[in-house]
Amino acid sequence: MAPPPVQTSGETTPHRDGEQYANVNWDELGFDAVPTDYMYVMKCSIEEGDFSHGKLIPYGNIELSPSAGVLNYGQGLFEGLKAYRREDGRIQLFRPEQNALRMKMGAERMCMLSPTVEQFVDAVKQTVIANNRFVPPPGKGALYLRPLLMGSGPLLGLAPAPEYTFLIFASPVGNYHKGRPALKLFVEDKLQRAMPGGTGGVKSITNYSPVYLAQTKAKAKGYSDVLFLDSAHGKYVEELAVCNIFIVKGNVVSTPAIQGTILPGVTRKSIIEIALGFGYQVEERLIPVEDLLEADEVFCTGTAVIVNSVGGVTYQDKRVEYKTGKETLSKKLYETLIGIQTGRVEDKMGWTLEV
Ligand code: COI
Repeated sequence: MAPPPVQTSGETTPHRDGEQYANVNWDELGFDAVPTDYMYVMKCSIEEGDFSHGKLIPYGNIELSPSAGVLNYGQGLFEGLKAYRREDGRIQLFRPEQNALRMKMGAERMCMLSPTVEQFVDAVKQTVIANNRFVPPPGKGALYLRPLLMGSGPLLGLAPAPEYTFLIFASPVGNYHKGRPALKLFVEDKLQRAMPGGTGGVKSITNYSPVYLAQTKAKAKGYSDVLFLDSAHGKYVEELAVCNIFIVKGNVVSTPAIQGTILPGVTRKSIIEIALGFGYQVEERLIPVEDLLEADEVFCTGTAVIVNSVGGVTYQDKRVEYKTGKETLSKKLYETLIGIQTGRVEDKMGWTLEV
């Protein structure tokens, strides 16, 4: 393996036309972990107080104490963002500072030390550059970056860990739902994802495996994913296991308000701005399940899924179908967002960052 092409932000992307790509079947990319060349690691102990000495190391297994906080008490956060290769060969990220800020917010909730926004963004750029042969060719997908923050220091009693590790690994990805079919959702009215005062509003690793039971049961019945309701009343729509949700009725686009139980998605935030720009009225509010059942169109948003139409939902004994296809708002939003992310549509918002 060649030495890591360590570069700091501001330097020219070394990717040029004709440079070799990794040996990946770009036409078959889904959302699976593909090992790449390098990962980025940076540590910080409670005594030091600041993250420093971050470096790229070959991608591989990591060593953790069996008594690490993350393994015993789930003190961990993750992020997800993508780097796209443009037609002109340049590589760009989409709003990475938003992920950095969300990680900082999560770290406060989880009593963890976190890297600064600058450290986060610089580390993401370095990881992309070091793995540039895994950034898919234009139009074939993206390099998905997975920043992790974990309590890596050892402890036995219940307390914040004495040391934290920030790690970024990368994987080339295509569509989260292969072929981007319109989703078939099961509205889960018994198992919960988040509760008021809990951690549903931050990207804690502990928010994710609790959805497996509902998701596994729904998938066994042929559903694509589960839509969770609020745990306090069991009547308001919150989010899917992997992404946020929007409903469309006439000229009004609604999405559940951020009140601590819903993840403040970077794609969610961007789609709100794009829909406003299209002239839609956008409401962030409580959405009773009845409004979902009466919607004209439903779609979901997230870094991994981007924007995906929902074809239908099942709630108790009711099954409802929605408008899908070329004439939908979700299709228009998807085309605009992916256009900006890949450099095909002018970025008037200043959302993209070249690495
Ligand atoms: C993402 O969309 O990046 C996420 O973090 C969701 C994940 C469960 C795939």
